[in-house]
Amino acid sequence: MTQDELKKLVAKAAISHVTELPVPPGGLVLGVGTGSTVNFFIDELAVLRDRLAGAVSSSERSSERLRGHGIAVLDGNAVERVPLYIDGADEIDGNGHMIKGGGAALTREKIVADLADRFVCIADESKRVEQLGRFPLPVEVIPMASSQVMRALARLGGRPELRAGVVTDNGNVIVDVHGLRIADPAAMEAEINQWPGVVCVGIFARNKADVCLLGGAGGVQTLVF
Ligand code: A5P
Repeated sequence: MTQDELKKLVAKAAISHVTELPVPPGGLVLGVGTGSTVNFFIDELAVLRDRLAGAVSSSERSSERLRGHGIAVLDGNAVERVPLYIDGADEIDGNGHMIKGGGAALTREKIVADLADRFVCIADESKRVEQLGRFPLPVEVIPMASSQVMRALARLGGRPELRAGVVTDNGNVIVDVHGLRIADPAAMEAEINQWPGVVCVGIFARNKADVCLLGGAGGVQTLVF
């Protein structure tokens, strides 16, 4: 199976996590992430649009795709909680900790993940790692602090690179950190997050996945954390 076929497979599997939710009066509100795997999920979600009040989305790209399918996009401020957040990952370890932000949407992804009662990660098996850090760690940074934050990331042992030509939906830049070995994801997330100028680091340990639907040659494996 190609990587796209695996992504489609897990996107379809994620639909059962939506259909098992009780539909409140007025309809369900879901959290919807960003990326090529989530794009397949949004396409699948279209058939369930009648049971949805809408979605809180983690990027302008996903919002556009949702609206294209007739699914309303709600402001995060309009919602107290969402029962379910579906999103992809760049890496996921055996504890449900992830690296995210390959698509530059990490900050809004973490905001929506934090609104959600349950995070279901959808990914193909290439994303499953023993230790986070093979994928360059994205960090969203306020532009005037990029050099300062990059020096601090180098002191942690990584090789930071400014992602060329990318401005996030929030008007900031992305620094990708190569060569980090993330032995303690929660500690590194807390450390980097507190530096002035850092908007969000792409380690999702505090907001880890509760479940991962992992697509491989043998089908979809459900990992529960
Ligand atoms: C977006 O910023 C990322 O966190 C995505 O969730 C991640 O890059 C997964 O993307 P794909 O589904 O395209 O692999």
